[in-house]
Amino acid sequence: MGSKNEALCADGRLKSVAIIMDGNGRWAKKRLLPRTAGHEKGAAIIENVLKVFRELGVHYLTLYAFSTENWKRPKEEVDAIMNLAYKYVDKVYMDRLRSESELAIRFIGDKSALPEKLREKCIEIENMQKDAPFVCNIALNYGGRAEIVHAANELVKKGLPITEENLSHAMYTYGTPDPDLIIRTGGNFRVSNFLIWQGAYSEYVILDTLWPDFGREDIEKCVKEFYSRKRRFGGIDEEDSKK
Ligand code: IPE
Ligand code: IPE
Ligand code: MG
Repeated sequence: MGSKNEALCADGRLKSVAIIMDGNGRWAKKRLLPRTAGHEKGAAIIENVLKVFRELGVHYLTLYAFSTENWKRPKEEVDAIMNLAYKYVDKVYMDRLRSESELAIRFIGDKSALPEKLREKCIEIENMQKDAPFVCNIALNYGGRAEIVHAANELVKKGLPITEENLSHAMYTYGTPDPDLIIRTGGNFRVSNFLIWQGAYSEYVILDTLWPDFGREDIEKCVKEFYSRKRRFGGIDEEDSKK
């Protein structure tokens, strides 16, 4: 795709991207490996995905890593995911943030249910870089319904009226624009409780690629698909309004 589409992304139409990173288990199964091997590979590719989106001129990337419903999985799998999250938050992201000021990492979701060590690391990371031109939100113990309930309770506590604006401000994602594009890997056409408030007018792209195989080519395909869409936000096309 090269410089042509890099310029395209710089036009500001594609500022905020969110991804449902699905397919780790199937990736492992295909290779006769334990599901945890899929999660390991899935975590390892995030670095490259971040790099490519930054090169393309996207400013916000929101990644669905663990849902409020994923606790239903076998304990060994949940423990493996939590350990993996700790490893990345502690080593990889800490080092990255120490060496660069252009990236901020935030966690969205209910941190209170996370293992204590992981929760503390997440808070430490969030406090390292507050204002940066590129923001990566990691959704850990995130559920869209729980987020809306949380936001509504915040407003009640503060005695604020329930308006769209106030609710948006009380969401975990406050500060990140609503996603222009939501990508789901692994081929399933469903939302799975991800950004159900913020995604009201997002463009969706579903890819069959399993998350651990997601790379530059897929990213470019998704970006091209996004630019081929006409967003109307409930209105009509400008050329039709003149007729
Ligand atoms: C996504 O991959 C990762 C998490 C939900 C934690 P899955 O583990 O859901 O992979 P599949 O969908 O079973 O292949
Ligand atoms: C969505 O994937 C959650 C994440 C990618 C973290 P799931 O694998 O949990 O979704 P369902 O169960 O297939 O809807
Ligand atoms: Mg899945």
